[in-house]
Amino acid sequence: MTSLDFSTTIGNTWFPAPTFTASGCASSGRELAQFFPLREMGGIVTKSVMSKVRPGRPTPRMAETPSGMLNSIGLQGPGIDAFLAKDIPYLTEQKARIIVSIAGETVEEYSTLARKLRSVSGISAIEVNISCPNVENRGLVFACDPEASRRVIDGVRRTIGGELPIIAKLSPDVTDLVSIARGVVDAGADGLALINTVLGMVINLETMKPHLGGKTGGLSGPAIRPVAVRAIYQVHSAMPNIPILGMGGVASGRDALELILAGASGVSVGTASFGDPMAIPRIQRELASLLVAKGFTSVKDAIGYAHREDGK
Ligand SMILES: Cc1cc2nc3c(=O)[nH]c(=O)nc-3n(C[C@H](O)[C@H](O)[C@H](O)COP(=O)(O)O)c2cc1C
Repeated sequence: MTSLDFSTTIGNTWFPAPTFTASGCASSGRELAQFFPLREMGGIVTKSVMSKVRPGRPTPRMAETPSGMLNSIGLQGPGIDAFLAKDIPYLTEQKARIIVSIAGETVEEYSTLARKLRSVSGISAIEVNISCPNVENRGLVFACDPEASRRVIDGVRRTIGGELPIIAKLSPDVTDLVSIARGVVDAGADGLALINTVLGMVINLETMKPHLGGKTGGLSGPAIRPVAVRAIYQVHSAMPNIPILGMGGVASGRDALELILAGASGVSVGTASFGDPMAIPRIQRELASLLVAKGFTSVKDAIGYAHREDGK
């Protein structure tokens, strides 16, 4: 039997498997831990944490759509202090590899969060969710503004020092994704997470008004997978040495392989885990057998294979 090296690296950090949770879709892992040991996946990406307690957006906050779902949960959560007191010790005890996702409303808030994380041990990387409204600039989402994106990552990099890998999570809702990606890499990001949800809206035909309390929401699930594949392919093509954590509609080993062939070094699973809490271990098994069936001996050999012209 062919042996397979299933490990991957993001920045200077090694992970035994290329499969992760997607931020916001498994909170801090307690629910999933009832179904499988968290240490068996590549790592857990925690829900984006902000500096203070947040109530979330008005209801309804979910709508089903063909091949996907629309959510406007907002960044509801307990705030960084409660997260550090409860969730990090829990995940460390589970021997899970932890990627902490942070979010802010100002450049300064991101730096404050980075300062609090700087001395915490047991963290593998920080994912910086910049798909948040910038209160200092008319609510324009950071990730849609090249200069604001760059300033956030620059602030986090300066605060955190050179040790922890920084992964900047980008929005696909921009005209030129590659220029945003270049900007955050120049500002100090070691890797990129692609993609956050796609902005959408559902109108309720009973009320004839927007269904979601927050009017617009983020589209996720299989409907957005081709958008994710395109985003990963374009960015990997422009910056082949920058590791990408890919996500968007992954529900099977085939889907995960598609993102890896486009250029992802690892794959996060979000919406699929809501319907099937065992989705991640199943996707890992399917991906491993598919890689072997295609003749790969390591995940690394498959990363970006779709770009090769020599057929090797
Ligand atoms: C209910 C829900 C909550 C989410 N919360 C966050 C979050 O807190 N931070 C973040 O960066 N992305 C968040 N996302 C986006 C996901 O991490 C992921 O980028 C997106 O859903 C695409 O992956 P999927 O199709 O596998 O769900 C959320 C998505 C959903 C569906």
